[in-house]
Amino acid sequence: MEFTQIPNIEQKASRVALGTWSIGGWLWGGSDDKDSIKTILRALEKGINVIDTAPVYGFGHAEKLVGKALKEFGSRDNVIIATKAGINWENQKPFRDCSKNRLQQEIEDSLKRLDVEAIDLYQIHWPDPNTPIEEAAEFMKGLLDQGKIRAVGVSNFSPEEMDIFRQISPLHSCQPPYNLFEREIEESALFYCLKNRIAVLGYGALCRGLLSGKMSKDRSFEGDDLRQKDPKFQEPRFSEYLEAACRLEEWAEKKHGRPLIAVAVRWMLDKRVNIALWGARKPKQIDDVDSVWGWKLKEDDFAEIDHIIFETIKQPVGPEFMAPPS
Ligand SMILES: NC(=O)c1ccc[n+]([C@@H]2O[C@H](COP(=O)([O-])OP(=O)(O)OC[C@H]3O[C@@H](n4cnc5c(N)ncnc54)[C@H](OP(=O)(O)O)[C@@H]3O)[C@@H](O)[C@H]2O)c1
Repeated sequence: MEFTQIPNIEQKASRVALGTWSIGGWLWGGSDDKDSIKTILRALEKGINVIDTAPVYGFGHAEKLVGKALKEFGSRDNVIIATKAGINWENQKPFRDCSKNRLQQEIEDSLKRLDVEAIDLYQIHWPDPNTPIEEAAEFMKGLLDQGKIRAVGVSNFSPEEMDIFRQISPLHSCQPPYNLFEREIEESALFYCLKNRIAVLGYGALCRGLLSGKMSKDRSFEGDDLRQKDPKFQEPRFSEYLEAACRLEEWAEKKHGRPLIAVAVRWMLDKRVNIALWGARKPKQIDDVDSVWGWKLKEDDFAEIDHIIFETIKQPVGPEFMAPPS
């Protein structure tokens, strides 16, 4: 296990966090609550002490399960709970809303659902073009001053948006999308955060399963699973991404004797993000975390990985399809 520091949070944070979007069920074709609780407990037992969630993950459901699992675990002291605010919904249709009134409602709801007195890391989920960034920043600063939260984060913000935010409030972390196949932030948010000592929690470490080493052409996606619409999972791209994953897997085994999933997460960590967010909803999915520790990628590894991706993926596409409407 490796640790990092999120500014303003005393406890050391594990460099892999458990992401609980799929635990909420919504947009992942539903999830099994018993498995979900077991997954959170397994992550904690494995030394993962950062749990990332959000109200919109299952419209409150993921947060409730995190709260329940924490009670079962027994000790809250060493656990860093990261949740978010700024997405509202009507009839399970989400939209961005960072108005003061909405944020006020959300913090109270999240504290109740998680059943905690304070939230360790509170993040604005998406910038809301209908609310001035200053309004959200001022509200977050107020929560920090009142002790309801310990650190302030944003997610999906550009450097320009973070600049505005930081004029009003301290900013301790940023959560952008980042993985081997989705690197759009390298020249923008990642560079900005490294320069300004803002902790980076990269989300989608496994590119929604494509980098798990277990994705195949015949995998079916049930119900509302977002991968039915994810452009990477549509032909002819799906075959290209699967081919890239397959070649990367062979390379990982031959060069490092490690599974693809370990290389995917190691790649993020060695690119200097503080924390890789790993989404899991079954306990065995998180067991692979052990293969991430105790080794590092070297300079020539990055070039060889890039070469494989360049040769196989002819129509790359980013994660933009996930942006909620404003
Ligand atoms: N801030 C934001 O806007 C934002 C957006 C997206 C995500 N996030 C955060 O980042 C976290 C991670 O992202 P993500 O959940 O979208 O995707 P991810 O980590 O790229 O992929 C998660 C999915 O990969 C599969 N998987 C995980 N471990 C596996 C294993 N060992 N073997 C095989 N398959 C495995 C599972 O899918 P199956 O169960 O279907 O097999 C799992 O649900 C989220 O949970 C959330 O906390 C934040």
